[in-house]
Amino acid sequence: DTMIVEIYPTEIDSRLMNECANILKQGGTVAFPTETVYGLGANALDSKAVKKIFEAKGRPSDNPLIVHVAKTEEILPLVKEIPEKAHRVIEKFWPGPLTLIFEKSSIIPYEISAGLSTVAIRMPSHPIAIRLIEESGVPIAAPSANISGRPSPTKAEHVIEDLIGKVDAIIAGGACNVGVESTVLDMTGQVPMILRPGGVTKEMLEEVLGEVVIDPAVENPNEINGTPKAPGMKYTHYAPKAEVIIIQGDLNNTVNKIKDIRLSYEAENKIVGVICTDETRDKYEEGIVKSMGSRKHPETIAANLFKVLREFDDTDVEIILSEAVDNVEIGQAIMNRLKKAAGYRIIEAE
Ligand code: TXA
Ligand code: MG
Repeated sequence: DTMIVEIYPTEIDSRLMNECANILKQGGTVAFPTETVYGLGANALDSKAVKKIFEAKGRPSDNPLIVHVAKTEEILPLVKEIPEKAHRVIEKFWPGPLTLIFEKSSIIPYEISAGLSTVAIRMPSHPIAIRLIEESGVPIAAPSANISGRPSPTKAEHVIEDLIGKVDAIIAGGACNVGVESTVLDMTGQVPMILRPGGVTKEMLEEVLGEVVIDPAVENPNEINGTPKAPGMKYTHYAPKAEVIIIQGDLNNTVNKIKDIRLSYEAENKIVGVICTDETRDKYEEGIVKSMGSRKHPETIAANLFKVLREFDDTDVEIILSEAVDNVEIGQAIMNRLKKAAGYRIIEAE
């Protein structure tokens, strides 16, 4: 049985929080909100507890987990060393949507690192996440709280949809405001490398670190040799039931191209949906058309993206044609998730 616990981020109920922290202490699983997406937590130092996460999500065992801490000092026993540049980004971006990869210490269970010599760590800023980690008194392993392969959950309803009956408790604590997962930044090499773009952008990191590179697997894992450094990047992801195709190019051309492609699929009796933006919403006539947010405020697009992808699962849409956004700042994270949802099917609008 899964206990569903409603907690308000602005008025945290101590008794309920205590109950959830106790479940974690005793080796159970608790889903909770973070500022990025909901996470599915367990004691990161308890192999048996960590295995429950993999089972509940149906997650491949070669995909390592992020360890969440509530205070900077808590990373000391988990890592071999903290490079100087890591201190700088911790100072600037923690707590917040930034995960750092370090060489791991020996107390990290095999399941957390999935056999790698490194460990991913982040300090979330969401008040419920911080309180839960603090009160449990242990570092908390937490992947996104979705069934593997589905869009990450940004609302409690999404978690309930995917994980009811599979975890010990779900904290319903409102919507996640960033909406895409944390940036994963590898600090173990000479030059810090972004393995997954997220809430803390390349531009923000460069201001603090100077040179920052992006793992080529972020653009398209199918085109590179070898495997992406973040094992999770190789899996199909965020995929709604319908097939997603991204249409990219000048905005007017994009709208026209989407209309053309929609007509040709409809001629084959396929049900077509469109993902657009507030600026283009009026250009599409009838049909199932959903806006992901405003191009002027791309953070609204990040916040809505997974919700919109999930909404299509409640429709009969078979093909989703999606507009692209500019691949800069938070747009890099948005495009990375959209491309994964689309299985990297992209059509240029000319
Ligand atoms: O925002 C987030 O990061 C959310 C919330 C809950 O904190 N968590 C999250 O976890 O997105 P998950 O498991 O869905 O994604 C973790 C990503 C995967 O792509 C995984 O392969 C990568 O981080 N990762 C974890 N440990 C790693 C390591 N040691 N080296 C390289 N990549 C790692
Ligand atoms: Mg995930």
